[in-house]
Amino acid sequence: MLSVRQLNAFYGRAHILRDVALEVARGEVLVLLGRNGAGKSTTMKAIMGLVRPAPGSSVSFGGVEIAGSPPYAIARLGLGYVPEDRRIFTDLTVMENLEVGRQPARDGLDPWTPERLFAIFPNLAAMKDRPGGRMSGGEQQMLTIARTLMGNPRLVLLDEPSEGLAPVIVQQMAEAIRAVKAAGLTVVLSEQNLHFAERVADRAAIIEKGIVRWTGTLDALRAEPAIKAQYLSV
Ligand SMILES: Nc1ncnc2c1ncn2[C@@H]1O[C@H](COP(=O)(O)OP(=O)(O)OP(=O)(O)O)[C@@H](O)[C@H]1O
Ligand SMILES: [Mg+2]
Repeated sequence: MLSVRQLNAFYGRAHILRDVALEVARGEVLVLLGRNGAGKSTTMKAIMGLVRPAPGSSVSFGGVEIAGSPPYAIARLGLGYVPEDRRIFTDLTVMENLEVGRQPARDGLDPWTPERLFAIFPNLAAMKDRPGGRMSGGEQQMLTIARTLMGNPRLVLLDEPSEGLAPVIVQQMAEAIRAVKAAGLTVVLSEQNLHFAERVADRAAIIEKGIVRWTGTLDALRAEPAIKAQYLSV
């Protein structure tokens, strides 16, 4: 579904991503693991067109080459993106935030409705009329993901969905991501939290200094203490 090859990206003259390659199959959850500053967010932004992929980079989504396309065109193809910083409308209610995200369904997947999303994010169901600005950080994080799903993406990029969440909310987030996968979506998330990744992801790609150092299943990674010690904070 998503095939990234020779993805290079720069901030000014700083070479950040170096020949990043990733393959994500339909219905799979891939986690991008790496420490602070490894290049996880930059990889997602480059896939989404928010950071320009350098010439020679290839990002193929559902067979369509999107490297060099503007973010709105990439979003229109069915790529959803939830950035690290929550971006809800603080003056709008939960319900209104969801309606703002609504886009036509694609691909024969069932369209998302607020009711379906409330089944996945039960705590949002209890605050339908609450303004976004009066929700906790974790609730806002869930609302941002739910609003992105209202756009009926085929694949969602989630940048560190567990970051800064209380343990009980982290558990709910893991269940929500598994439910999103069960609904047939493809998910790419970034994480520093290996335990969270193990709960939700099928495969991992470990990135360090903008280079993919290791890829494999989470089961395979469990048997690689040296890799974990070298590239992850464990
Ligand atoms: N806007 C920017 N301008 C210049 N350099 C940047 C910019 N954003 C990120 N960088 C640098 O690019 C590198 C990769 O950053 P990136 O944000 O992709 O890392 P990350 O893996 O997402 O880290 P974190 O876990 O802290 O979110 C880092 O060295 C960072 O300092
Ligand atoms: Mg980041």
